[in-house]
Parts: sequence; structure tokens; C-alpha cells
Amino acid sequence: MNYDFDRVIDRRGGDSLKWNIDAAQIPMWYADADVASPPAVIDALIARAQHGVYGYAQEPAALRTIIVERMRRLYGWHILPEDIVPVPGIIPGFNLASRAFGAPGAGVVVQAPTFYPISRDVALHDMIPQHAPLRRSVDALNVHFAYDPIAFEAAFDERTKIATLCHPHNPTGLVFGRDELLHMAQTCVNRQVVICSDEIHCDIRLDGGEHIPIASLSETIAQQCVTLMSPSKAFNIPGLVVGYAIIQNPQLRERYVRAQSGMIPHPSAFAYAATIAAYQSGDAWLAQANAYYAVNLDYALVYIRQHIPQLRCTIPAATYLLWIDARELQLPGSVRDFFARNGVALGDGTPFGGESEGFVRMTLACPRSVLAQALDAMRAAIASQ
Ligand SMILES: Cc1ncc(COP(=O)(O)O)c(C=O)c1O
Repeated sequence: MNYDFDRVIDRRGGDSLKWNIDAAQIPMWYADADVASPPAVIDALIARAQHGVYGYAQEPAALRTIIVERMRRLYGWHILPEDIVPVPGIIPGFNLASRAFGAPGAGVVVQAPTFYPISRDVALHDMIPQHAPLRRSVDALNVHFAYDPIAFEAAFDERTKIATLCHPHNPTGLVFGRDELLHMAQTCVNRQVVICSDEIHCDIRLDGGEHIPIASLSETIAQQCVTLMSPSKAFNIPGLVVGYAIIQNPQLRERYVRAQSGMIPHPSAFAYAATIAAYQSGDAWLAQANAYYAVNLDYALVYIRQHIPQLRCTIPAATYLLWIDARELQLPGSVRDFFARNGVALGDGTPFGGESEGFVRMTLACPRSVLAQALDAMRAAIASQ
């Protein structure tokens, strides 16, 4: 069956955070997709809604078996059902790790630039972000980011309790290789630092490559890891607030669950129903979604090279995000504001840290016609400057 990703779905005026902005702007800023979820997910949600009674939800018996089987099948990673802790979203899941394994004054290693709620929330817990910048380089066409093992090791000191990993990496779309992951993991294992690995984008691969969960590298590394995963980005259900932590070390898991108790609710009945449907019946849809986003990426790269050569882009291997270096435009103010005034809402680079002023983030997960309109508006804005 072929799924229709070209269909433009009107999201304005509804409950979409991404779309309820100035009507003159095309929203390319938020990391949610403008595509309908797989039909199996929609059917499962309709069936659950039609039941009519929305009492407190119990985790469905099948959930853990489905996740265990998925980890084994996709990543060759052998986990047990009891390793899974359902959480209502990845950021709550990350904050739980901060609560469980950090303390005021503790250090948390963050690879900048990075999805900014991570460094923001480290500060909320009165902990200290310890920056391990990715290595950045530019050439005539693109901007490149790479893991920097020296910077990573240098970020640690005696205060460090947690090292965060965003893998695949938001905003650059970088995928860390096995040796890089091994180096990060070994650095943490040697120092007894907990690895909190946000792998929410693991199922969105534009290059056809395979994801390697850091915890799957070895038994010893697994004992040091909290891995956060979710069907939310891949199957476009982030509004259902859903996710799970995988924690194979029973002591760490016990501390995590204790931190959760009474503070963070479990996912809702709708979140559970959608997760099961997505994982059981959504993979053909997911393959087509990834292929569609990959063509969108090519479209954007070719367009930018031809018509807006002042912009340099990353070439994401994963995620549906394009990280754009607009420094060559030498705009007097914020790049985000410039494009917003000219009809395109992009994500502001600055909060991502790592000297990201002059960068913007663009979401590619939309019908190609919408992407084309946004790029045309960006080109016109720069031409009229
Ligand atoms: C890397 C990363 N982690 C976490 C989140 C947010 O996850 P959630 O909405 O489940 O809290 C996002 C959303 O864009 C993300 O890109």
C-alpha cells in the first residue's frame, strides 16, 4: 500500500502548537510532522475513543513484549520486559534521570549544540551543564559536525554524575558510529557516570543506515545506561505524550522508578493504544515516511545550492531536521526573526548552544509543496534584502 505524504492537512486554528502562529508564516520550526499517522494508529485511537469510558489506564499486557521484540529485531539488543519504564514523554524521562542520578551542584555533560531543553532542564535542577562541543567545520557547500573525543573527555570532572547523549543528534542529524559510541561509553563507565541517551529519533533514518543503541554495545555499558525511546517522532504522535526508559541495571532502575513515583504520571490509554498499533503495524508506513523525508532533504539541498548558496546545511543521516548555517548572510539581527518577518517560521539556533548564533533549524517532515513554498519564501527574502 502507498501512503500519501503529499496531502496537505490543515492544522491551523486547531490544537497544533506548531501551526498556531502568525498566519503569514509557514511553520517549519517545531519538530513535529505535518503528515497523518499510520492508518493502524488512527484506527486504534478511534476504537479506544469509541469505547466511551476513559478511566485510569493500566499498561497493556502486550506492551513490554512488543518493545522487547522490537529491540531484538531492529537493533539486536536483548532486553528484558522488566527493564522498561513507561514515561509520558522523553523530556519528563530525562528530568527523571536528573532527579534520580543528579543533585544540586552535580555536573551533566552536554554535547553542544543540542536539543535545548536538555541544557535548560539541567539548570532547573541546579546542576551544571558541562559542555562537550561537537567539532564543526564548513566547506563551500555544507557545514559538518563530528564527535570530538578530546572535548568529550575534557568536559568531565569530579562533579560529573550524568552524561547526556542525543543519538541520533538533534539538531545536526548526526549519527554516532560504533567506535564513537564505544569511546563515549567507556569514558562514562571508567568514571561511573550514568549515560542518559535520548534516542527519540532512532527510527527516522534518511540514509538507510541502522541505529545502534549505546546500551547495546556491551553488558558493562548497559549497566551504566538509561535509554529513552518513543514512537512519538517516527509515527508522528508526540501530542499523545508517550515514551519509555530502558534501564537494565536494577539499582539504577529502582532509583529512577522511585523518582517517578507520585510526580510523573504513566502514559495515557491513548498513548498505549497508539504505541502498540504503531509498533505492530506501522513499519511499512515508517519506511515510506523515511523515504519521503529523504527526498525532501534532497529537494531542500539542491534548492539551497542553486538558489540560496549563502546558506550552508548539514546533511542529516537521521532525523527530519535540517540545521542551517546562515552566518554568511551577515544579518544585523536574529536570523530567525528575519525569516519570520518574511513568511517562514524556523527554529532559532541560539538556544541550542555551541556558538549557534546565525543558525536556524528547519523541519523537513511536511508535504513537499509546503517545503517548496517555504524555500521560495526564504529565497525571496534574501533576494530582497
Ligand atoms: C532529541 C529530542 N528529545 C526529546 C524531544 C521531546 O520529546 P517529548 O515530547 O517526548 O518530551 C524532542 C522533540 O523535538 C527531541 O528532538
